[in-house]
Amino acid sequence: MTIMINGSDYPVPDDARVSLLDMLRERLGLTGTKLGCNQGACGACTVLLDDERVLSCLTLAAQAKGRDVRTIEGLQGPDGGLHPLQEAFIEHDGLQCGYCTPGQICSAIAMARELRRGDPSHVTADLAGPVRPTREEIRERMSGNLCRCGAHNGIVEAIEEMLAGEPA
Ligand code: FES
Ligand code: FES
Repeated sequence: MTIMINGSDYPVPDDARVSLLDMLRERLGLTGTKLGCNQGACGACTVLLDDERVLSCLTLAAQAKGRDVRTIEGLQGPDGGLHPLQEAFIEHDGLQCGYCTPGQICSAIAMARELRRGDPSHVTADLAGPVRPTREEIRERMSGNLCRCGAHNGIVEAIEEMLAGEPA
């Protein structure tokens, strides 16, 4: 069995203890995904697994067997250009050192999907109605992704721009 990563199949590591993060960075050289705390507290290692956000430091590579992983390297369009959210991060100064950025971007893309399907968050007031992508909702939903540079305001503005450009 294999793992599909950014559209290509890779064999599952023989060692069942290998994390998805280590497989990506150490074995495949996909260093866009960052190692931060390595214990689920910072969000730097966030990738997409079947389009849902996961912390790759807490995910075994074997858990991705037969599934679809996307990392920051796999988010560009067919022409190789930046993803619209990457463009928005640049426009809104959503990064300084850039270390947290791949995790922020993967997390935000999956968060937009969660909003579209109406998943409530801790701050959702009306659990019966559609979830409105307010600034408070975005902050709450992105709270698992830390930025030591303090670029959070730009990050939220970039995400707001992405959400505003999405079809209703
Ligand atoms: S490196 Fe995975 S959450 Fe910090
Ligand atoms: S841009 Fe430096 S940690 Fe977020």
